[in-house]
Amino acid sequence: MNFPRASISGAGFTALCPGCKARVKVALGKQLLHKRQLPRSCPAMEATTSRLDPAAVGDLVLLDPLTEESLLHTLQERFRRSDIYTYIGNVVISVNPYQSLPIYSPEKVQEYHNCNFFAVKPHIYAIADDAYRSLRDRDRDQCILITGESGAGKTEASKLVMSYVAAVCSKGEDVDKVKEQLLQSNPVLEAFGNAKTVRNDNSSRFGKYMDVEFDFKGEPLGGVISNYLLEKSRIVRHVKGERNFHIFYQLLAGGSAQLLQQLKLRQDCWHYSYLNRESSSLPGVDDAANFHAMQDAMRVIGFSPDEVTALLEVTAVVLKLGNVQLSSSYQASGMESCSIAEPQELQEICELIGLDPSVLEQALCSRTVKARDETVLTTLSVPQGYYGRDALAKNIYSRLFDWLVNRINTSIQVKPGKQRKVMGVLDIYGFEIFQDNGFEQFIINYCNEKLQQIFILMTLKEEQEEYVREGIQWTPVEFFDNSIICNLIENSKCGILAMLDEECLRPGVVNEDTFISKLNQLFATHKHYESKETQNAQRVMDASLPLQCFRIHHYAGKVTYNVTGFIEKNNDLLFRDLSQAMWAARHTLLHSLFPEGDPQKVSLKLPPTAGFQFKASVAMLMKNLYSKNPNYIRCIKPNETKTAMLFTPELVLAQIRYLGLMENVRVRRAGYAFRQLYGSFLERYKMLSPRTWPRWAGSDREGAEVLLAELAFPPEELAFGHTKIFIRSPRTLFDLESQRQERVVQLATLIQKIFRGWRCRTQYQQMRKSQIIISAWFRGHRQKNKYKQMKRSALIIQAYIRGWKSRRLLWELKRQRHRHAAAATIAAYWRGYQVRKAYRRYFRSEASIRLANFIYRRLVQKFLVGLGRNLPPLLVTDRTWPPAPYKFLADANQELRSIFYRWKCKKYREQLTPQRKALLQAKLCASELFKDKKTLYSKSLQQPFRGEYLGLTQNPKYQKLHAVAKDKLVMADTVRKVNRASGKTVPHLLLLTTEHLVLADPKAAQPKTVLSLGDIRSVSVTRFSDGFLVLHLKETSTAGAKGDFLLVSDHLIELVTRLHQTIMDTTAQALPLHITDQFSTRFQKGDMAVTVVESAKAGSNVPICKKRGSHKMEVLVH
Ligand SMILES: Nc1ncnc2c1ncn2[C@@H]1O[C@H](COP(=O)(O)OP(=O)(O)OP(=O)(O)O)[C@@H](O)[C@H]1O
Ligand SMILES: [Mg+2]
Repeated sequence: MNFPRASISGAGFTALCPGCKARVKVALGKQLLHKRQLPRSCPAMEATTSRLDPAAVGDLVLLDPLTEESLLHTLQERFRRSDIYTYIGNVVISVNPYQSLPIYSPEKVQEYHNCNFFAVKPHIYAIADDAYRSLRDRDRDQCILITGESGAGKTEASKLVMSYVAAVCSKGEDVDKVKEQLLQSNPVLEAFGNAKTVRNDNSSRFGKYMDVEFDFKGEPLGGVISNYLLEKSRIVRHVKGERNFHIFYQLLAGGSAQLLQQLKLRQDCWHYSYLNRESSSLPGVDDAANFHAMQDAMRVIGFSPDEVTALLEVTAVVLKLGNVQLSSSYQASGMESCSIAEPQELQEICELIGLDPSVLEQALCSRTVKARDETVLTTLSVPQGYYGRDALAKNIYSRLFDWLVNRINTSIQVKPGKQRKVMGVLDIYGFEIFQDNGFEQFIINYCNEKLQQIFILMTLKEEQEEYVREGIQWTPVEFFDNSIICNLIENSKCGILAMLDEECLRPGVVNEDTFISKLNQLFATHKHYESKETQNAQRVMDASLPLQCFRIHHYAGKVTYNVTGFIEKNNDLLFRDLSQAMWAARHTLLHSLFPEGDPQKVSLKLPPTAGFQFKASVAMLMKNLYSKNPNYIRCIKPNETKTAMLFTPELVLAQIRYLGLMENVRVRRAGYAFRQLYGSFLERYKMLSPRTWPRWAGSDREGAEVLLAELAFPPEELAFGHTKIFIRSPRTLFDLESQRQERVVQLATLIQKIFRGWRCRTQYQQMRKSQIIISAWFRGHRQKNKYKQMKRSALIIQAYIRGWKSRRLLWELKRQRHRHAAAATIAAYWRGYQVRKAYRRYFRSEASIRLANFIYRRLVQKFLVGLGRNLPPLLVTDRTWPPAPYKFLADANQELRSIFYRWKCKKYREQLTPQRKALLQAKLCASELFKDKKTLYSKSLQQPFRGEYLGLTQNPKYQKLHAVAKDKLVMADTVRKVNRASGKTVPHLLLLTTEHLVLADPKAAQPKTVLSLGDIRSVSVTRFSDGFLVLHLKETSTAGAKGDFLLVSDHLIELVTRLHQTIMDTTAQALPLHITDQFSTRFQKGDMAVTVVESAKAGSNVPICKKRGSHKMEVLVH
């Protein structure tokens, strides 16, 4: 949000609310003088209102009156309203609420995204957004310095900044991965580097500086993490109520049974002497869940499962080392020596790291000393042994931590060559004042002192110096410059650290007594140094300062340090035997942590001391921070008891004092909020005046003056230095910035307009050109097609005309040829006629007929001779005949064929015997009588006509009958006679002679009925395949008195045929034969109608006769 065209006077300012466009008069530190009905939903005005509320101003620069009390009161009031963030210009003060507040939601992120720093409620997101935009848009590397004492909320603040930047920068698969990796480095580092202290349950026990690297679009590319001095003494010792590093408790609580078994660990914290036995679990902290979160984070960062296992194995080794117990024994020489009391733990450690237990045992219990080219193995006393063991544990852990940071860096580092912008976030351990402060506190407080120095230098001293340098009228503001304290500690010649190093490297008996007496000597009159000795010298009685201690008056308060352990911790020595043992381990990770253990690389040079290293890394950090644009978050701890929303004014006041907040506000109020070199200023804002846009021909300063004169800002808002322009109020700057933005939009529109015009013109010209080409091609194409069509039509017409002409010509030629041919024919005939006429007398008459006859004869002869040679076989059944070779011989050939056939038949007939002939005649006769008339006929064809079926001559029984027949027998057979009265059939013998037909009784073989053939009037048979026949007798005959005979014969066809033939022979008259289904018979009692019925009941040729009344009979045939 912005306040355009604000006019500012010393007493206040008027602002145009961008939300509702209301002009508002605001007095510095007073109530709003004029307030129109503001819409409630105007966040800009809400923010402004809250910022200007005199009871709880959001920006302490607006505090009126400015006193320590009003400042404290304002912070307290704001804290009470849950407004934990307050500004001093662009410095954010954050008071730890010790409870989660609903001000970090995604909606809040959106609210602060691209916000105007001064137009929204103070928030850590606002400073994060400002830094990020400055990095992205102004290409300035940023650093966010988070300071405050332990438990003030630095780590939380750094996480909030990181998560905000991650939320607002652009999204995408790659970017999200980088963001995730950067964010997930926190749980891993916190697990290994944080611990519960009396001041903070999640106290960072190392310093962390993280450079997040972005590309030109503001997308994160990766990062680099630097770590500073891990408080490794915590591994072996920590005061009551504190804990060791979180990872140990997390591993034991969250590791699966299988993992713990693999690591040879027990789930019980009590078992491990390095772990605090009183408070292994923390209220409200789920170590198991944190362990799983840490494992997930490692996976996200890119740790392989093997790396995770190796890391946990080394962690387990550290834990187990604490359980290695030593016992004392005495050698023969009376010297005390130590040995492993319980080999089980040592054995397990060696199994984990792949080392021979005896090697580790020797390294723990003895020490190799080199003296004048001689190597002597000396035994260690039990305290020395424990010292070595603890040193080993500390060393392993601190090196493991360094390895962890490097491993994370490998995953998140940016590929070289990419251009990047950097945002550094510094979260370093806070200022610490304990009951008993040791080397670690000294180092930590030194670091904080340096950070305070940066702050002072950059915000207070540097600023004031700059005003003087630039020739701006300025009343100096008093502030405490802590460089004297920094110098006391870090001076390379006579600083405390230098003295400590000197003492560590000094040959001879080295102990802390000589060290402190040296300090006392050196700093006897130093304002910020105190000890028992200096106090005594000044006759000050102070029981709180023991002999072994010295006190430094830090910017944040007086801290008494106990020098015990200073030299040992500064030396940070590890017996070479132990590092060599670790190097000898087969465990790859552990092996890599101790490169100096390689016997090949033995160096007698002492490694740099811890203090020296720390000083060097702090110096590097400072250099790094100086090169960036700083953004400050100053964290304040409201109470010592970690209680939610409890504000202890005394505690906060102390922090206000040592953080130099009052001075900060004073300088801020007196000074100018913004400065920039004239060149860069003009470059950035020259578009705001037509005189400076697009180019200013004069000097940069003149350009800036012209530009600002045109913008008509109140004169007290601006100051022109030698090289820089100074702007007093941020609002003026924001006004300038918003005008620039408006102008940039206009310019962008202009560029867009010109570009669009150019693009459209070019496009139009291109289209026009294309259109001309297309139409030219199209016309050409159309003309070509038209031409082709015309050509085709012309060709067709031509072709037709030529065709017509040719046809005419051809026709003419043909006519001519016909004419010629006709003329030639006529001429030929004519000539022929002439020639014949002339030569007629030379030709014989009828020569052609003769010739033709001759030829015909010759052909006939040849045909006949050929036929004679190739006559078909003489078989009667063979009807083949060769075809006629010439058409005129067809009739003759057909005639010859029938002659030949008839001749073949004659020949066949001539060779037949009389019996055979008679039989064939009988068969012929049967055919004439029955063919196609009676079904039985076709069945009878295969049966030869035997005539004699009874065997009259052979059988003596038939002697009488034979006698009757004599030589006139034609046929003898058995028949069945149908009884006229009942219809039943009775077998009878039947003899047919040339004169009679005799029926005889088969048993007696006596003729019963003798019929003269002349008495038979006619015969009736059925159409079917039965043997039923009726002999119709003449009424006049004697034998016919009883009526007609109904007989059934097995040889009906033969019987009727022979009867017919015999009658024909004797009477020369044909026997009438009726083949019918219905006929009438005459019986003695009258006529009877016989109906032939086809029925399945009848046998194949034996009919069944059924009487139906006295005049009807049915014959069932099949
Ligand atoms: N903004 C916040 N909102 C809610 N709780 C907070 C906030 N900041 C800090 N806290 C609480 O305060 C505790 C201590 O904060 P933090 O760990 O950030 O302190 P620190 O300054 O990093 O301390 P040290 O120097 O010991 O690392 C956190 O565990 C958390 O419970
Ligand atoms: Mg911390």
